[in-house]
Amino acid sequence: MESCCPAVDFPGRATFVAAIDAAVARGDTHAVTSALRQALCGLIRDPSVELPACVHEPITDHYARRELYRSPAHGYSVVAMTWGPGQGTPLHDHSGLWCVEGVWHGELEITQYELLEQAGDRFRFRGAGGMHAGPGSAGSLIPPHEYHTIRNTSPDQVAVSLHIYQAEMACCTRFQPQAGGWYVRESAALPADQAA
Ligand SMILES: [Fe+2]
Repeated sequence: MESCCPAVDFPGRATFVAAIDAAVARGDTHAVTSALRQALCGLIRDPSVELPACVHEPITDHYARRELYRSPAHGYSVVAMTWGPGQGTPLHDHSGLWCVEGVWHGELEITQYELLEQAGDRFRFRGAGGMHAGPGSAGSLIPPHEYHTIRNTSPDQVAVSLHIYQAEMACCTRFQPQAGGWYVRESAALPADQAA
């Protein structure tokens, strides 16, 4: 478990951090996330940037979250996620933080949800479109449009994605499905797996 800023080294790390820093310096949320999507697409295709080998190793009983970098100046957090065949998330939010996510390797199915109504701890959602994202694609989540699931639907391939969060995301809210499109909220800690 990583409890403070990680110091994970990998080829191209300086290029990687400089590209993200430049995007984050853009100012407002839409400009930042748009610049980050472009930066992330470029980094995924940049042969000089090679993520640490550990990100290609799935963990048997859960998808792996390995924090690769946290910016001392800007506070953003970069997490690599490794999805074994069939691994995925329940419906969840992002604690109000913006996030840009890119597929580094393999393919992921991302489904967005729209919040229709809330009654106490019960929430009703409607699926609002899904996509299969392949290597080199990147998308952003900007609250309040932050509800989604991610799944590796491949029967035999590992997928790796990179997530740049506005700040460290140590917990979020998950939604457990009930009848009729309703879900019950539960808070969830998001522990980090050891990187490298
Ligand atoms: Fe997410």
